[in-house]
Amino acid sequence: MQTLTLADGTTLPAFGLGTWKSARGEVYDAVKEALSAGYRHIDCAKIYGNEGEVGTALSDTFAVGEIRRDEVWVTSKLWNCDHAPEDVEDAVRGTLEDLQLEYLDLYLIHWPVALKKGVLFPRGTDDFRSLEEVPLASTWQAMQALKDKGLVRQIGVSNFSVGKIDALIDATGITPAMNQVELHPFHTQQPLVDAMKARGIGVTAYSPLGSRDRAEVLKSDNEPVLLEHSAVATIAEAHGVSPAQVLIAWALARGTAVIPKSTNPGRIRENLAATEITLTDDEVATLSGLDRGFRYVDGSFWARPGSGYTLESLWG
Ligand code: A2P
Repeated sequence: MQTLTLADGTTLPAFGLGTWKSARGEVYDAVKEALSAGYRHIDCAKIYGNEGEVGTALSDTFAVGEIRRDEVWVTSKLWNCDHAPEDVEDAVRGTLEDLQLEYLDLYLIHWPVALKKGVLFPRGTDDFRSLEEVPLASTWQAMQALKDKGLVRQIGVSNFSVGKIDALIDATGITPAMNQVELHPFHTQQPLVDAMKARGIGVTAYSPLGSRDRAEVLKSDNEPVLLEHSAVATIAEAHGVSPAQVLIAWALARGTAVIPKSTNPGRIRENLAATEITLTDDEVATLSGLDRGFRYVDGSFWARPGSGYTLESLWG
């Protein structure tokens, strides 16, 4: 299994299970299936609404005794309504309770967006807080305090641009261990991946398969279907593997971690088997050449008129 080495020498399995959109009632079996198949990295977040069930699956698995807690990398994320420094510790303690864990391997600021306390999704523009009011640097310092207390082993960010990361480092002197962003052949973000490498920051690719099971309201009209692209199909045929496996192998070949979501037992195993595929340099280049700067998760739900956030301020 490929690993990613973080700045302090810590390694993590580059391949993991995504749990965004994994329904309650299904995610317990998915996590158990994944761990029994050989997954050792589970990606979670409070906002996914399923950490309690993931936690039961982890706890039941550890209770059997074949897999120890320290053999599994568990990531979770601070939700936007908990950015105020005084709310950060309560938030991670809630997640730890739900996941039935003593510590997280990695805790990320989920978005560079602040919401009022208790607001999961904003109903109106009043539910937003500005980054002047709740600066990311103050949230980041509170994240560092969690590390100092041993509640989390590593801290990082998600959906952060290079500029926002540099501002965080300038303001606090603390470099994130990881930036988790959307990455796939339609959105390769090569400059961002290169910039993270230059700073010793690990990168995790989310929505690597094109996130087709997103709610309809989150989809744009006529969005391109990554899993059905002919170039992906051609490479899949050449290797006798599936398109999803090609996309996973591409993400690993770039040196990123990758967290495809599945709750289907066959696809959970199929995705893990992709860690054994080696693409040629030409195949990697062909896939990277599909880049069209297309985000499946475009962040437009934050960039509402009057919210104080725009797509430019979000991604810039
Ligand atoms: P399912 O959970 O039924 O397997 P992403 O990780 O980009 O968010 O994509 C998740 C979507 O891709 C889900 O709809 C998931 O469905 C589907 N998926 C996961 N693995 C595969 C696979 N090997 N082949 C086809 N679709 C897959």
